[in-house]
Amino acid sequence: MRFDIITIFPEMFQKIFSGGVIKRALEKGLIDIKVHNLRDFAFDKHRQVDDRPFGGGQGMVLKPEPIFLAVEKIRNDESSPVYLLSPQGRRFDFRFAENLAKYNQVILICGRYEGVDERVIQDLVTDEISIGDYVLTGGEPAAVVIIDAVSRFVPHVVGKMESVKYDSFSEGLLDFPQYTRPRVYREMEVPQVLFLGDHKKIECWRRRKSLEKTGRLRPDLLSAKELSEKNFLGKIQTEKKGMNNESH
Ligand code: ADE
Repeated sequence: MRFDIITIFPEMFQKIFSGGVIKRALEKGLIDIKVHNLRDFAFDKHRQVDDRPFGGGQGMVLKPEPIFLAVEKIRNDESSPVYLLSPQGRRFDFRFAENLAKYNQVILICGRYEGVDERVIQDLVTDEISIGDYVLTGGEPAAVVIIDAVSRFVPHVVGKMESVKYDSFSEGLLDFPQYTRPRVYREMEVPQVLFLGDHKKIECWRRRKSLEKTGRLRPDLLSAKELSEKNFLGKIQTEKKGMNNESH
């Protein structure tokens, strides 16, 4: 799987992929990341990548020609998706990430300044992607987020595909809590249930904790889930009200 990043700040990517799981995936040839300087595709007299907006207004707009030329040069296959990273895009999530991992090549264009000429959006890109409802100074951090999240779905990048499958979100729920040694730390005890060797009970406890946490921090995720799960959560909340001492 190959990622191509088009940016006017290629130096921003120098270190970010040089550690951890992504570094190993690069070394093993499971993924490839190529960073392209948009300025290398600006062939006018001043090698200009941006210009003032028609109609007036603040800031500069990225010009269409270098972006079209860059994509046309880089794209291996007509079916390779091309995404413009912008706060106006379709929201990136784990499903999007999983789907992108099926392609051999994904091209990411980092937006900048006040915007990008609309003809890029109209005629070149597959879609615009946003990583969240906030405005970054440019698409570069979003490209890093997307490459990281998509790479985890590329076979063999993460040791066990199981761990990707059971991660937060793949079931529409946040993760259950994890503990390791020591058993007691600053008077905080690891829940008893984890030492009983009863795997059914552990599974049930973990599910309950996941549902509780999701209900508290991301109720929007629960609304997309089965009614039975919501009922399960309702039951837990009623139970909790009746007992102060949480069952460990
Ligand atoms: N560029 C600026 N803000 C962005 C966002 N939220 N997601 C993706 N690209 C961006």
